Amino acid sequence: MEREYRMDKDIEKVLLSEREIARMINRLGREISRDYKGKNLLLVSILKGSVVTMADLMRAITIPCAIDFMVVSSYGSGTQTSGAVKIVKDLDIPIEDYDIVLVEDILDSGVTLNYLRELLMGRNPRSIKICTLLDKPDRRRVDIKPDYVGTAIPDAFVVGYGLDYAEKYRNLPYVGILKRSVYEN
Ligand code: IMP
Ligand code: MG
Repeated sequence: MEREYRMDKDIEKVLLSEREIARMINRLGREISRDYKGKNLLLVSILKGSVVTMADLMRAITIPCAIDFMVVSSYGSGTQTSGAVKIVKDLDIPIEDYDIVLVEDILDSGVTLNYLRELLMGRNPRSIKICTLLDKPDRRRVDIKPDYVGTAIPDAFVVGYGLDYAEKYRNLPYVGILKRSVYEN
């Protein structure tokens, strides 16, 4: 279904259509279902950005799994990471018995996930892996690689499918490059 969104006018270019994203999510779901068969899978969604990825991915996973959420903030309302990560909401459940997959919308500098991975490692889960819909490898500032990736994208600021600029555009069903005029001057 093709809808017209009021926010479409702020988008320079559609990078990934709804259909392309759906295909990626299905593949990620198949890979995780295969790799975690017989394990005790816990999907941890890093809010708010990954809410849409999480909602679709968990339904593309065909083995039993638990879910939980963390809220962290690192960006404020700008387009550059501040480097500082703040835990706004922690997990609800103890994780020692779980094989964790951290679910992210986008891996950019890697600062956020690197920090979270270390933090959760300290709680002794069985294992921790990383799944991200989008990866911007050119922007990496710390040594971290996702285990499951939808697709790598160029270094541009993107919105939609959960990703925001100043809390807007998260409800766009596609991923698009935001016009510079929206956040410059
Ligand atoms: P990192 O710590 O730099 O890897 O930042 C990861 C977080 O930054 C993501 O979860 C997003 O919230 C945000 N982010 C990074 N790149 C973009 C982008 O292009 N658009 C919107 N948010 C982004
Ligand atoms: Mg985010």
